[in-house]
Amino acid sequence: MPVELVPNVYWVGAIDWTIRDMHGYQTEAGSTYNAYLLVDDKVTLIDTVKKGFLPEMLARISEVVPPERIDYIVSNHTEMDHSGALAETIARVKPEKVFCSPLGKVGLSRHFKQDWPFVEVKTGSELSLGRFNLLFLETPMLHWPDSMMTYLKEEQLLFSSDAFGAHFASSERFIGDQPRCPMGYEYQLMKYYANILMPMGTLVTQLLDKVAKLGLTFKMIAPDHGLIYRQPDWVLEIYRKWAAGVTKPKALVIYDSMWNSTELLAKAFLEGLMDAKVEAQLHHLRRTHYSDIVAELQEAGLLLLGSPTINNNIFPSMGEFLTYLKGLKPKKKAAMAFGSYGWSGQAVGLINKELEAMQLQQVHEGFQVRYIPDPGELEQARSLGAQLAREHLAAA
Ligand code: FEO
Repeated sequence: MPVELVPNVYWVGAIDWTIRDMHGYQTEAGSTYNAYLLVDDKVTLIDTVKKGFLPEMLARISEVVPPERIDYIVSNHTEMDHSGALAETIARVKPEKVFCSPLGKVGLSRHFKQDWPFVEVKTGSELSLGRFNLLFLETPMLHWPDSMMTYLKEEQLLFSSDAFGAHFASSERFIGDQPRCPMGYEYQLMKYYANILMPMGTLVTQLLDKVAKLGLTFKMIAPDHGLIYRQPDWVLEIYRKWAAGVTKPKALVIYDSMWNSTELLAKAFLEGLMDAKVEAQLHHLRRTHYSDIVAELQEAGLLLLGSPTINNNIFPSMGEFLTYLKGLKPKKKAAMAFGSYGWSGQAVGLINKELEAMQLQQVHEGFQVRYIPDPGELEQARSLGAQLAREHLAAA
């Protein structure tokens, strides 16, 4: 069934309960592809759903109006979780106009090679549907260059595309004024931000400043994934904090190991962090998915990265993780490398190079031991962990 957000505005999207991988991001809570139907003189559909979910979306639309009554389609974002069903929707509905950003037109044309009745809109462009008036806001790189948001002025309702979304399948559609959300939603919100929007922190801040300058206020925010915010102030505030890279006294020990020597060091560092009474977590790179480590890393101020040396190199799982992390451009974190080696010991130096490339604050030249750490070396690692926590985590 469709769900009414405000009179004559409906959620008509789809729930993907079983998806567990979204282009490499582990989606253990599933996802939703939110599409919205506005019933006015011009019946308007905002976004569509992923390919394969068209029948679910059309069934919901049909509960409100026959799909053929749709006059306008607004495409806020080209990525295929929102446009996968667009070609079939347009073939069925034959809309009078398809509204998108200039780069949306480029992206949709390259994806679908169709001559659709595009109308390009820019920040500040307005569209009257009858009683409702829409205002468009280009939001490039949140999450693709084409991304934009659509604001329903009369209801102060923002259709925010990927921003403020979470991969979260649920029978619920709404969330209220709860910074601590039920059912792990806040974790999924943070995981989504960290894995999708972390590199765009500056743009998120600029967007929040821009909407403040335009005097826009929001009674409701309806993203393209997850739940709809009925009292969205808390999610705006949390986005501002994440975009600024605000951290808390939290440290992660992230490692892999061949014959447990690097693991012994990892656990010694963890004990040191716990001695310093900071929030500390241990993540084995082949046990915790990298998208979850990145989620935990969003608010962490200190990272200890451990790898053995293998064939004069870092362990493959650490290489994969560092490649992924570098693309996310993390900021305002202290970091240190450690590891065990047998005869050459390049891993720590190679991790250091990556930390340097990421412009993270290297707080130690690196801690390495040959073969198996002895009790004295484990004690040194423990003391160093406690010392780093005290020196580099604000309230430790
Ligand atoms: Fe949910 Fe960038 O697509």
